[in-house]
Amino acid sequence: MAIYAEKNAQGETLFILETEKSTYQMKADTNGYLLHLYYGDRIEREDTDYLLHKEDRGFGACPYDLGRNRTYSLDSIPQEYSAGGAGDFRTPCISAEFENGGRTLDLRYVSYKELEKKPALAGLPALYETEENKAQTLEICLKDSAEDLYVYLLYSVFEKEDIIARSCRVENRTGKQVALNAVLSACMDINEDSPLDLISFWGRHCMERNVERRPVAHGKTVIDSIRGTSSAQENPFVILCDPDTTEDFGRCWGLSFVYSGNFAATAEKNQLGLTRLTMGINPEGFRWNLQNGEVFQAPEAVFCYSPMGLTELSQKYHQIYRKNLCRGYWKDRRRPVLINNWEATYFGFDTEKLVAIAETAGKLGVELLVMDDGWFGKRDDDWSGLGDWKVNEKKLPGGMKALCDRINALGMKLGVWFEPEMVSEDSDLFRAHPDWFLHVPERGYSRSRYQLVLDYSRKEVRDNIHDQMAAVLSSANIEYVKWDMNRHLTEVWSAGLPADRQGEVYHRYMLGVYELMERLLTEFPHVLFEGCSSGGGRFDAGMLYYMPQSWCSDNTDAIERLEIQYGTSFGYPMSAVGAHVSASPNHQTGRRTPFYTRGVVAMAGTFGYELDLNTLTDEEREMVREQVAFYKKNYDTINRGDYYRLTDPAKNTEFCAWEFVAQDQKKALLFGVITHVRSNIAMPVIRLKGLKPQAKYRLLCKAEGVGNSEKAARALEGIYSGSLLMGAGLRIPNLRGDWPSFCVELEEVQ
Ligand code: GLA
Repeated sequence: MAIYAEKNAQGETLFILETEKSTYQMKADTNGYLLHLYYGDRIEREDTDYLLHKEDRGFGACPYDLGRNRTYSLDSIPQEYSAGGAGDFRTPCISAEFENGGRTLDLRYVSYKELEKKPALAGLPALYETEENKAQTLEICLKDSAEDLYVYLLYSVFEKEDIIARSCRVENRTGKQVALNAVLSACMDINEDSPLDLISFWGRHCMERNVERRPVAHGKTVIDSIRGTSSAQENPFVILCDPDTTEDFGRCWGLSFVYSGNFAATAEKNQLGLTRLTMGINPEGFRWNLQNGEVFQAPEAVFCYSPMGLTELSQKYHQIYRKNLCRGYWKDRRRPVLINNWEATYFGFDTEKLVAIAETAGKLGVELLVMDDGWFGKRDDDWSGLGDWKVNEKKLPGGMKALCDRINALGMKLGVWFEPEMVSEDSDLFRAHPDWFLHVPERGYSRSRYQLVLDYSRKEVRDNIHDQMAAVLSSANIEYVKWDMNRHLTEVWSAGLPADRQGEVYHRYMLGVYELMERLLTEFPHVLFEGCSSGGGRFDAGMLYYMPQSWCSDNTDAIERLEIQYGTSFGYPMSAVGAHVSASPNHQTGRRTPFYTRGVVAMAGTFGYELDLNTLTDEEREMVREQVAFYKKNYDTINRGDYYRLTDPAKNTEFCAWEFVAQDQKKALLFGVITHVRSNIAMPVIRLKGLKPQAKYRLLCKAEGVGNSEKAARALEGIYSGSLLMGAGLRIPNLRGDWPSFCVELEEVQ
């Protein structure tokens, strides 16, 4: 049992959620407030309310019904789901506006129940339970003291995984309209005046998810997006931890949002040094008019706690997202090794070029050709064509089927790029429906990559795109879709909603996108969908529910990718990370790297190529064959194993290393890139992780570099015990040349 609820003699109800390594406590007290008591290391089932701060403090606002009691202020007592306007001056979880304009909400505890099943959240992505991984769900009902506005808090506990998924539902039974100005999904009040660090993941196009760690300071630190997507600029995943927490030591709390639109994660330290962390739809740009009888469902936020550092925290997220968020046909199947023509041809391709690329790729073991942007409408550059999802027969004579048949005849699958949420001004769709894009009438609108955003809050818009996409997907044996989204939302206004409901457009847009994805997944269940947003601009847990992998970055430079993939690994499984070997010099940075190194880096994810293999030397093509075979052989270890970050590429400028260990610990892979080759030094020693200490492992090492590099790698080969590799470690082979790299394969021997 993971959920306990107990009423004591004073009439208070104590709620305890337990996972293998954590305890979460809250209490509905005698005043009817739902207090947060504790979230941290697993402890005995004892009430921790003795830690509450109930003191008379200057400026403390105390609830009316407490009479002359000056020691009970919501501002200093940890809250489970704080309502705005009634004495808690910190970030509110919910802010409501009633008919009289009043913005005060006073939520009091009503009741609780345990649900038999974890409920799906209408129209939204969410964790689901499986036979292997069941969840227990607690629902707590709160109600405003004056009006019949109800708030239901949901907690689903995945015990083994140390995961607590939270969401919230608001029901209006007031008989009147209530405007919701904020409805967050989760809150955590840490009832300790101790220093904490906040880790977040900022970025930009071509450099997503850089790790930033800073002390939580007084006031608020807001990590957010108001771009209409989760964005490359900030990611809806944050970590709070002790200042001395490392990869292998210390307390850390993760908070991940299963949503792909505007979000805000706020870390706030108050006057008493208490930290509040919240996550939810960004209140900026949000206002939802909830009519009497209506329900508003907030998205899910996923907490994880680890007492043992960041590696364990990440691995817990990897597991839960692989097993209880990704779905469908491709969830547990090995995904195809692909070749994408974008960096090979950009817009300049036709059937013959694609077939030539596929032919060579197929012979080397590649399984899927992705035809990227440019196959439809009048799309020879990025000025036109979006919205017209009809094959350009000048490029593909005979249409999609003719191309697909030829690709299939080579033993390859065909995948197709779409950017369904966009429209070009130079398109038939735009000419027919000039009001279907997001813009404010009588005002200019912003172009971004020359394109405009379709108003997905409108059903007729979604239906049109659905029908066009479904026609393409039914016209041939298309087995993969790359769903791209290459600009952010501006001038957000919908012709489909009245003036007082324009605050709903951002969220309704997201619900619309999810609806279309769900519809297409249902109709084409065998198609593998890969997300993309100018690279990794919408890399979030929400998308993983629909698409088990996502193009991680438009930056395919192997050295830059070290940092991008490192940052991505904190919150997302490597099985979701689209990574490709591309040409050298690299198209984004101009850097030259060895072919081998590009393979080593791209293998930390769903592997593929993004160049014309016909332009390679015979030796390089042979390397492709080896890489593909190696990746397929080690697919399980990479995509289902445990991932270990062994170095921080932003800090360690000498080398970067990472490791995968198979679930049964019989196999492991250690990859490394020397990022600063020096002469005459003692190479560093690296200690491996996650092996069985007593087991013996056969070690094979391959490397590419100049001079004696390969010999230096082979010199490591032998039989080692797990304890030796984890305790004493392994000396990094002394590799020479530009950006040399190595790969160590470990296999248990009897
Ligand atoms: C985005 C994607 C690229 C490619 C182009 C096509 O930038 O991230 O991979 O598909 O669009 O226009």
